[in-house]
Amino acid sequence: MIKLDLTNILKEEIGQSGLDFDEIKMRAENAVSILKERKNEDLDFLNLPYQDLKKIKEIGQKARDYEYFILLGIGGSALGPKVILESLSPFHNFQKKPKVFIFDNVDPYTLRNLIELIDLKKTLINVISKSGSTSETLASFLIFWRMIRDKKMEVREHFVFTTDPEKGNLRIISDEYDIPTLEIPKKVGGRYSVLSPVGLFLAEAIGINSGDLLEGAREITEKATANNLDENPMAYLASSLYLMDVSKDKKIIVFLPYSDRLRSLSEWFCQLWAESLGKEGKGTTPYPSLGTTDQHSQLQLWMEGPEDKVILFVSIESHNVQEEIPEEFYHIEGLRFLGGHTLEGLMHTEQIATEMALSLNKKANLKIVMPKIDAYTLGQIFQFLQVTTAMAGFLYSINPFNQPGVELGKRLTYGALGKRGFESEGEEVKNYLKKKRIII
Ligand code: PA5
Repeated sequence: MIKLDLTNILKEEIGQSGLDFDEIKMRAENAVSILKERKNEDLDFLNLPYQDLKKIKEIGQKARDYEYFILLGIGGSALGPKVILESLSPFHNFQKKPKVFIFDNVDPYTLRNLIELIDLKKTLINVISKSGSTSETLASFLIFWRMIRDKKMEVREHFVFTTDPEKGNLRIISDEYDIPTLEIPKKVGGRYSVLSPVGLFLAEAIGINSGDLLEGAREITEKATANNLDENPMAYLASSLYLMDVSKDKKIIVFLPYSDRLRSLSEWFCQLWAESLGKEGKGTTPYPSLGTTDQHSQLQLWMEGPEDKVILFVSIESHNVQEEIPEEFYHIEGLRFLGGHTLEGLMHTEQIATEMALSLNKKANLKIVMPKIDAYTLGQIFQFLQVTTAMAGFLYSINPFNQPGVELGKRLTYGALGKRGFESEGEEVKNYLKKKRIII
């Protein structure tokens, strides 16, 4: 089970920058009771660990016959699958098929090069969009659709859609062309959807048992709503980060996993936290990082820069590889001391030394400890961070499941591109571009 170490956020350790344990506990209790109250209303991500995997497994099995697997999606419809690929099969494209490409932008350079690298006849394209209306995803979908049609290939052999069960453009096309389609439950929004077919289909396509991800997530879900607060680290984490913001003015959370395989978990968490909590003038800024790498890039700022951060370590107990550092150059102390240790030992020592240094400097830091990285623990950490984020939203009294702030940009894009119904936004963009600008 994943654990949370709160020591270095307490007053006993870091003095006045720290919190009282009783205060953290009180807010944690509050967060759990709201979660329990709302469990049956709008928290459908808590039901995902109990879903039926039959269809995902069937289509996932077929996907393994393709040479290439292209995922088109953005935001919550791409970041979760990316974590699954990079954490559980980081060298996948060197070792196995299908080779996977996650295209989560509209950069024409990337797309053109990707198209030139693949053989469309041997390619399966998974288009993921909950709303079915995201311009970026639809634009790249249209490019692939046209190419498949031009080559007289059977569209249903080359596309799988992952979308809303009832509505949206992908649903219309899926019905018309009989495209295999997986469903994202109605009340599950993008950034809470990794444990739906959004992430699980890719998992199956690359040979990961999606059931293991769900089993891990189930354990967390049960603890999240249990009466025993001592088994609910998510509530303590939500409460600590909330209190650090509102009572200590720590507006930045540095998310710092010590594993290359969790680099994209940083990106995923930052989207989850930012889009869920940044509203009504509230929320804190998540900052994606990586240990040990960023000790040589950011640590100076964390140690001696503005007093506005909480560092959230993610430490991995076992990397499951004992890579020993050879004993060479015995006569040179600068190299001698490394010999005989393992890379894992070095990574742990670096992490501990960094948390100690921060604490000695009275800088608030917390640590999530994962026993190892596999499908089971990845399912756990996804659900752990989703529950934590939702609970933080409840403490802030905001809705962590909507994103009103991204709608305006979307509407202006629609207007500028001439989508019917968005004429006034189109005019606004024209006027904006006409305005005298200072460009030096
Ligand atoms: O978390 C969210 O809701 C967003 O990041 C969406 O995932 C993103 O905007 C893509 O939306 P859609 O899946 O509808 O294409």
